[in-house]
Amino acid sequence: MDNFTYWNPTKLIFGKGQMSKLKEEIPSSTKNVLLVYGGGSIKRNGIYDQVVNELKSTDKEIFELSGVEPNPRISTVRKGVEIAKNNNVEFILAVGGGSVIDCSKAIAAGSKYEGDAWDIVTRKHFPTEALPIGTVLTLAATGSEMNAGSVITNWKTKEKYGWGAPVVFPQFSILDPENTYTVPKDQTIYGIVDMMSHVLEQYFHNTTNTPLQDRLCESVLQTVMEAAPKLLEDLNSYEHRETILYCGTIALNGSLQMGYRGDWATHNLEHAVSAVHDIPHAGGLAILFPNWMKHNVDINVDRFKQLAERVFHVDSTNKTDRDVAIEGIEKLTRFWTSIGAPSKLLDYQINEETLDVIADKAIVNGEYGNFNKLDREGTLAILRASL
Ligand code: NZQ
Ligand code: ZN
Repeated sequence: MDNFTYWNPTKLIFGKGQMSKLKEEIPSSTKNVLLVYGGGSIKRNGIYDQVVNELKSTDKEIFELSGVEPNPRISTVRKGVEIAKNNNVEFILAVGGGSVIDCSKAIAAGSKYEGDAWDIVTRKHFPTEALPIGTVLTLAATGSEMNAGSVITNWKTKEKYGWGAPVVFPQFSILDPENTYTVPKDQTIYGIVDMMSHVLEQYFHNTTNTPLQDRLCESVLQTVMEAAPKLLEDLNSYEHRETILYCGTIALNGSLQMGYRGDWATHNLEHAVSAVHDIPHAGGLAILFPNWMKHNVDINVDRFKQLAERVFHVDSTNKTDRDVAIEGIEKLTRFWTSIGAPSKLLDYQINEETLDVIADKAIVNGEYGNFNKLDREGTLAILRASL
């Protein structure tokens, strides 16, 4: 293991009816709140009314920023920063999925910065101050509810980058599985693929002696794979919504990644794909991840074999280690396809034409990935295999 310090200040408030805790979590001295939400799902499913009633019961003035897009845009962040600065906003409440939370984090940091919020996303400015944030999560996927990361797109320049700073950890996050009942089937599938990908990004590393970390990752994968098909059969199952919601948070709140650095090349590459094509983040991951795995299998065949045996129960009798490893990757693809995830870039009408542009964006900051460094050529090989 590498030396590490683990710190996560987000208070996780999980379970049925936990919305009633909202008013006690926002400090009583807070005079106003900027409520940030997406394209309207929270109005249709009643979560908006519940939140507003809670806030009104404590006489807080409410400002609103609605219409945060999936793959949230810097233009929307700028709107939020303007509202926050013009009205001396004291607290930001994000109600939605990862996009709403990520946008809120950028607004929180942007509101305490004199320059343009895009400087924060491009890491020209590292925020050391931010408005406090709380979240009500409505979709299980990103882990943004309990981490300090955010991913923002600049649609004009077709750039999408992740950034992070400890000051944007949410102070609290309310996770009621019932708030995810209305997540449609496709978004539920994307969430499942996203959280599994987060675990896989972490699983592939070069640090030795991480037996507990490995088994924690494998457990999360197995739990998701057990619950996912049952949930997709019954989207109103409290039990399975609950399991998947908890898995999504654990997958990316830092608790799996103590004592080593995960790879994260596939996320970098997917961000480049969705910057150019505006496809759902996890749709891209489902396509790219197995091809990243096949591209890198010889870097450490034992790790791939371990995954194949322990998570995908590949029988290794009379097979080479490499064959076992490849069979595991194929089983991952089969699982994702079986739940309805895409497997080819062509499923999104992405063809050879834009691969060069995507590759340029992926390597804009140089070679990337910690398990294995990907250069332009490696990037293109994975993209071509993904067509
Ligand atoms: O906008 P509304 O109308 O609310 O609808 C949303 C949106 O269309 C809908 N939705 C959310 N909750 C719902 C619901 N519909 C019905 N009922 C509900 N309860 O779902 C759609 C997708 O929402 P979005 O927030 O975009 O999904 P997700 O949580 O998957 O977030 C994706 C974004 O997170 C970034 C991705 O790149 C992408 O931009 N990521 C953020 C990470 C982080 N901060 O740590 C890590 C991830 O790897 C990821 O990159
Ligand atoms: Zn992701």
